[in-house]
Amino acid sequence: MKKKILVTGGLGFIGSHTVVELQNEGFEVVIIDNLSNSSLDVLEGITRITGKTPQFEKMDLRDKPKVKEFFAKHSDVEGVIHFAASKAVGESVEKPLLYYENNINTLVYILQELSERGEASFIFSSSCTVYGQADELPITEDAPVKTAESPYGNTKQIGEEIIADTCKVHERLKAISLRYFNPIGAHPSVEIGELPLGVPQNLVPFITQTGAGVREQLSVFGGDYPTPDGTGIRDYIHVVDLARAHVVALKRLLKGDNKSNYEVFNVGTGKGSSVLEVINSFEKVSGEKLNYKIVDRRPGDITAAFADTTRANTELGWKAQSTLDEAMRSAWAWEKKIRS
Ligand code: WQD
Repeated sequence: MKKKILVTGGLGFIGSHTVVELQNEGFEVVIIDNLSNSSLDVLEGITRITGKTPQFEKMDLRDKPKVKEFFAKHSDVEGVIHFAASKAVGESVEKPLLYYENNINTLVYILQELSERGEASFIFSSSCTVYGQADELPITEDAPVKTAESPYGNTKQIGEEIIADTCKVHERLKAISLRYFNPIGAHPSVEIGELPLGVPQNLVPFITQTGAGVREQLSVFGGDYPTPDGTGIRDYIHVVDLARAHVVALKRLLKGDNKSNYEVFNVGTGKGSSVLEVINSFEKVSGEKLNYKIVDRRPGDITAAFADTTRANTELGWKAQSTLDEAMRSAWAWEKKIRS
């Protein structure tokens, strides 16, 4: 009997890639998405890859009665992977209440349903942003959670605390928070990928859009950081590697292999790359010269972050497989596809 998994935000960038991996592993998937940052084309893309169309319900998870109704209707859902959230750091500073309502209320409503069930598995989309600028690199899961630099980052910290507190009183609710580093790239089939709305905030989509002529020039935010080449360092992980980490984490909970009913894992490659190294990777895989200019630092940016992935490697038996060049190649292939 196929296990049924709910993926909220399942038509988003990381969500859609995770749905593909879940279907590849034989899970039955139902997606909830409000299409605020995605489109039904993504559902078609998923179907073209796996040959199976996941169930889809257009719903806003801020509607508590609708969430209750969904779980009553889908009483056979055994696990939830919760991606649905607003995720633009800059926007969260402008609209904090939108972020607290959308990222916190929805989490509470889902946990209220799951905690009333016998057994339930829950995977939370968290972020390395909870570490702020870590004191030590690479960053382990035991690194202190710092005061968030943005309401977005705060919603991830609060979200993790809500889950931890809930799991303390509901032993049969098993949860894992995955702290993503920097997801990039696209599915090798070029059927799904990142679809940033408006001007991309993140580095890699801005690079590929500049390479495609959609953007005039990439601004490199800061060339005077205390790093080897003066530009910021991050841990860029291929989105398919990240998606596979969700399936491995979910299986851990469904099989009852978890050591406690709330666990946290860093999900990165363990390797840091500077902005200039990412630009070099793009130029290498595309054969194009990138038009960029080093400008002032972006307020709120940290100098460097990359993961210590020991815990995910040993406990989950998961390790990122793709290199920066492979991820960049897939990002560029996707950009060319959507511009064609
Ligand atoms: C990466 C590097 C920039 C754009 C954010 C969120 C994090 C997660 C991923 C959601 C930095 C530099 C960027 C540009 C640049 N989001 N940069 N020019 O800030 O590490 O992480 O996105 O889960 O939670 O905090 O990612 O891609 O914005 O920046 O020079 O036009 O690229 O300074 O060094 P970031 P990013």
